[in-house]
Amino acid sequence: MKKPVKKPVNGPVSKAWGGRFREHTSASVESFTESISFDKRLWRHDIRGSIAHARMLARQRIITPKEAATIIRGLNEISAEIAGGSFTFRRDLEDIHMNIEANLTSRVGEAGKKVHTARSRNDQVAVDLRLYLTDEIRTISGLIGTLEEAMLLIAERHISDIMPGYTHLQRAQPVLLSHHLMAYVAMFDRDRGRFSDCLRRMDVMPLGACALAGTSLPTDRDSVARELGFGSMAMNSIDAVSDRDFALEFLAASAILIMHLSRLAEELVLWSTEEFRFIEISDRFTTGSSIMPQKKNPDVAELIRGKTGRIYGNLISLLTLMKGLPLAYNRDMQEDKLPVFDTVDTVTACLAILGEMLPEITFNTERMKKTAGKGYSTATDLAEYLVRKGVPFREAHEITGRIVRHCIDRNVGLEQLDLPELRSFSPVIARDIFGALDPSESVKARNSFGGTSPAEVKRQIRHYRRALKRK
Ligand code: ARG
Repeated sequence: MKKPVKKPVNGPVSKAWGGRFREHTSASVESFTESISFDKRLWRHDIRGSIAHARMLARQRIITPKEAATIIRGLNEISAEIAGGSFTFRRDLEDIHMNIEANLTSRVGEAGKKVHTARSRNDQVAVDLRLYLTDEIRTISGLIGTLEEAMLLIAERHISDIMPGYTHLQRAQPVLLSHHLMAYVAMFDRDRGRFSDCLRRMDVMPLGACALAGTSLPTDRDSVARELGFGSMAMNSIDAVSDRDFALEFLAASAILIMHLSRLAEELVLWSTEEFRFIEISDRFTTGSSIMPQKKNPDVAELIRGKTGRIYGNLISLLTLMKGLPLAYNRDMQEDKLPVFDTVDTVTACLAILGEMLPEITFNTERMKKTAGKGYSTATDLAEYLVRKGVPFREAHEITGRIVRHCIDRNVGLEQLDLPELRSFSPVIARDIFGALDPSESVKARNSFGGTSPAEVKRQIRHYRRALKRK
């Protein structure tokens, strides 16, 4: 087949940057390089940035007040059209910035051509992404707070229910269920802290850095920063357009958060097995099997655990994307949005569904309590009893170990030994030993700061309730 002969272009190619080009971009390049299919999500923030920029240009007499008013009117119309779904995004216009600018110019004429004065898409995309992420992080922090609330309520309801505490997934010592749950509240509280640290460093405005070197036009970046709600301006214009640390910090905080969610999900999966039978998740939050009629699967928890891989991947993806880039902007950086958007969506969805599911979990406290006393879980209490009677800890540990072995050989629990039997291991043992071997007494006695006694867990609950109020 004969190739169609490309007609040379008469005048500039129809692109914002078309002036120096003689030929049209190939269709395959247009589709390979476009970002509008995903960055249209930034439209609100792009328009907010452009309105603040236009106002500043007028204040600085770089454009006239009338031109600024025309630009702002046009941008507001575009905003309404995008929100209403009637705006047509064009792939040949590459990205959200040029889609909006081109539409503005065709809508309002000459004034539209002035909106891009003293800025570049390099600083524009950087400011859009910061504004966007700031909003999303606030939502995510709110969702973490809701999850903490839900956990706190369950902890309060089960304040004195006992469960086996584990190390190496072997029964270790009896603990309060509320204590175990409060450990997650402690993690989530740190997660909220990480996101707010991240917000603090994100609170720096790159707009006005232009392509990389600043501008010779008399701009006033400070007033734009204030109007957009930023605490400060990027100090170095080259850094302003090159930096994606803020997105990386968000991805890193999200990776740690979802690691926590995944550990909780894993426990919910384990606890709902026939082997554990510690919890039952309501029918509304479980699914069945297409072949095994008896099954009730904890799919929501499994999927949260599963999505963790994606969130780690997104962090590694952006780290890898950035590692070899020379300063300043490189087109590679357009790929930053995909992992960021995916992490926002995934983390938001996981937090929301987990917040809904937690109140739908019934705890089998009878079974938890029964298993808490099994497996010689009060052996440490016995050793600490001996310590209170003056036996050095290492010796107490050794004596207790021998008692446990004796019980294993006879297939009995510690509490089933009688006093003379116990005293044959150490003469300091007296009748009061039986209190120490009872799981509820064991829990009550662990009243060191942060320990599992009801009084200490109540202190933890009060602490995190206060921390939530401060958010
Ligand atoms: N779509 C681009 C991005 O997301 C916007 C910046 C483009 N800048 C440029 N000089 N081509 O990174």
